Amino acid sequence: MTLILAHRGYAAEFPENTLLAFKEAEKAGANGLELDVQMTRDGELVVIHDEKVDRTTDGTGLVMEYNFEDLRKLDARFKFKELPRKEQIPSLSEVLEWLSGTSMVCNIELKNSIIPYEGMEEKVINMVRAYDLSDRIIISSFNHYSIVQSHILAPEIEIAPLLSEGLYMPWIYAQSIKAKGFHPHWRAAPDQIVKASLESGIEVRPYTVNKETELERLFKVNCSALITDDPAKAKRIREKIKQA
Ligand code: G3P
Ligand code: CA
Repeated sequence: MTLILAHRGYAAEFPENTLLAFKEAEKAGANGLELDVQMTRDGELVVIHDEKVDRTTDGTGLVMEYNFEDLRKLDARFKFKELPRKEQIPSLSEVLEWLSGTSMVCNIELKNSIIPYEGMEEKVINMVRAYDLSDRIIISSFNHYSIVQSHILAPEIEIAPLLSEGLYMPWIYAQSIKAKGFHPHWRAAPDQIVKASLESGIEVRPYTVNKETELERLFKVNCSALITDDPAKAKRIREKIKQA
């Protein structure tokens, strides 16, 4: 079965990368989450997509210039202002703590391509191990040096390179860096690439799949998982295909 991973949580309907969006993704029937990790000035791992807080909060400036305590004062509801309560930027620790009480998998994307946060890999790994979640976590990044480093530090935790463009025989590349799968942009995941990868024992989890036609195609080709903003819609389509 193709797993449904909620991109930044249930980002189509709730503020991305907040505990609310993660909890709602679980309620909507997602099999797992995808989330983004950056680091504060005082070294706290926090769940936010951009290097800056400007787009998704009422604050301004770089995450790396905030202390965690000050970052927590920001409101991360951004375009969902009608929500009754303020939402905070979560720490990775609080998300993993909550996740450990669920059965979901979680793809942690290290956002260290633009700012090379020193020691991020080790901090993430220590936290995953502390919550005993090694078998439910996939560490991904556009920074492939970073995921290789993660694999060296923690061979028990799965890694997956993010591929924004099509690559020649990406399953061979994945094998070469000891990844059991890769996460391509959906345009870089045509059926023949998905099939050839699966035949080689390499998992394919395309992002960010929101169009009905693409969701249908990837379910039909039996892709390992897909990453979507709308887990409820994806689940409906998966059910429809199963019944057909
Ligand atoms: O992990 C897949 C996807 O989230 C990568 O792109 O920019 O949404 O983090 P982005
Ligand atoms: Ca991401």
